[in-house]
Amino acid sequence: MCGIFAYAGSENAVPLLIEGLRSVEYRGYDSAGISVIDASGVIQTVKRGDHKASLENLAVTVGDGQLSGVVGIGHTRWATHGQVNQQNSHPHSSSNGVVSIAHNGIIENFLELKDELVDSGIEFLSETDSEVLAHLVGKSVASGSSLREAVIGAASRIKGNTAIVAVSAAEPNIVVGLRVGNAGGIVVGKNADAAVMASDTIALLPYTTEVIYLEPGEVVEIEKGAIRLFDLEGLSIEREPIITAQNFEAAQKGNHPHFMSKEIAEQPDAIQSAMRGRVDFAAGTISLPEVTLTSEQIRSIDRVILTGMGTSLHAGMFGASVIESLARIPAAAENSSELRYRNPVIGPKTLVIAVTQSGETADTLAAMEHARRAGSPQAVVLELEGSQASRIADFTLPIRAGQEIGVASTKTLIASMTTLLQLAAVLAETRGVIGTTAVRSIVESIAELPSLVATALGLIGQITALAERLSKFDDLLYLGRGAQLPIAFEGALKMKELAYIHAEGYPAGEMKHGVNALLGPNMATVVSAPQNDLYEKMLSNISEVKARGGEVAAIATEGDVMIERVADHVIYVPKCHELLQPFMTLIPMQLLAYRTALALGRDPDKPRNLAKTVTVE
Ligand code: AGP
Repeated sequence: MCGIFAYAGSENAVPLLIEGLRSVEYRGYDSAGISVIDASGVIQTVKRGDHKASLENLAVTVGDGQLSGVVGIGHTRWATHGQVNQQNSHPHSSSNGVVSIAHNGIIENFLELKDELVDSGIEFLSETDSEVLAHLVGKSVASGSSLREAVIGAASRIKGNTAIVAVSAAEPNIVVGLRVGNAGGIVVGKNADAAVMASDTIALLPYTTEVIYLEPGEVVEIEKGAIRLFDLEGLSIEREPIITAQNFEAAQKGNHPHFMSKEIAEQPDAIQSAMRGRVDFAAGTISLPEVTLTSEQIRSIDRVILTGMGTSLHAGMFGASVIESLARIPAAAENSSELRYRNPVIGPKTLVIAVTQSGETADTLAAMEHARRAGSPQAVVLELEGSQASRIADFTLPIRAGQEIGVASTKTLIASMTTLLQLAAVLAETRGVIGTTAVRSIVESIAELPSLVATALGLIGQITALAERLSKFDDLLYLGRGAQLPIAFEGALKMKELAYIHAEGYPAGEMKHGVNALLGPNMATVVSAPQNDLYEKMLSNISEVKARGGEVAAIATEGDVMIERVADHVIYVPKCHELLQPFMTLIPMQLLAYRTALALGRDPDKPRNLAKTVTVE
């Protein structure tokens, strides 16, 4: 996820921008850049697209002290549109040189805006979507708008979650920041000599521990010793600063009470990161440069086994569902601790895909070793690159969710699902099962995924009351069918590991085969029932539970009024392409478990008896 740092004060901003970017380095990046307004009022920009060396190379480049100015912005980038190189790095300047901006997020409608700007005579220097913002803001400032008005105007033209910082030669003492939706936060702070703005609290600690977080739909102006907050209509907002603890852990949590709530909120960002450099939204293509299998090898695969533990097994179940559905290859997910001991019949035509965010889970590593000995081509879907799993697999598919500190896996799950969905499309296209038109349709759907997840995250108001209700039960049943089954399993696992309530995930079709004996007022049932071809079956299951005195909470598609007639509680998620429904229903499952844990006084970041990485059997 991209990092942002901005400074307006008394000192030379250049070394301070570098230090600010270093403090958000943990977010990861493949390019870095800064813009400062020099003593003659000209915006000077220096940037590097040298992958992991970008920030150090940038520091060396500006280290000679030639460049100086007391106002500036800095950015570290994870490429989403355009290759990793210098011209695609941020900040981007307007063609008239009056404005420089840095941006987090994906501009879903950037092509139409780019066409409009090119038709007006603007020459683009990069392949990025972000450069559109620089030209939109630059044109407005050149027409007499203030920088704040110009940034608001530009933001109103774009679709998608976004965070922007901008400087203007016309107003050399200020930096403007704006946030729309969930594309990473913006936090500001000040002391007597300076005001600073960043994507992470940690970057502000050298200046102040009193910080203000921008909410979506807010814009801020900072200048030496001053912070001015506005809404998008330009009305001033008064907000008291939060005193953030001086320790790293508190700073890393930002304005979230727990790492888990922060990481749940980071999921739109995590999805964008997992698509970075893989989905070309303009061309409508998906490519996974990390896949080392040849087309012939991919076409010769006759079976796919996905393997993992806990939440990663649920990601594998999702992967199996989407791979078999799109690529028409037999695919199944297996618990690694079972796979490693059952002496499976696998070989060179079995593609094994391990899913492990840590890359150090003992059972998963053992299953991977078995697959390697069997000569199966093997991939690992992984967060922590360089871990043991990346040394066993033939190739690694990084999920790039960013370090996950909460023991309960949330953003790494959704990033793994996003990565596996892309893999399914690549396998299907390489095997000739789907063509470019179908791939373009998938790209058009997943382009909306960050915004859809951001909308689903807004459900929190519906969740809290239901969580209070579920916290009264000692036993919970979670039901799902098809691609919703792994989500039912994940919902039950989250409730177990966070609220310590006994919760079972079950295929809804299993009800009559024993589960019905459990039904009654002492066990509540959570049903994942989005509108799809299994919806009617799920309605029947809900009625089956109700008929035996059970209480039902349904997760349903927005606008579905039928389900309210059968379920006791309904949580609505955004309507979307069926392929994306598991991403929607996952969000209330996570929020329910988190809120129920809080209702019961549990620590959601450090659940009892559990570790973040299980390096033993
Ligand atoms: C899920 O919330 C737990 N943290 C746990 O089930 C976890 O998914 C499992 O231990 C696998 O971890 P891994 O992804 O690092 O292999």
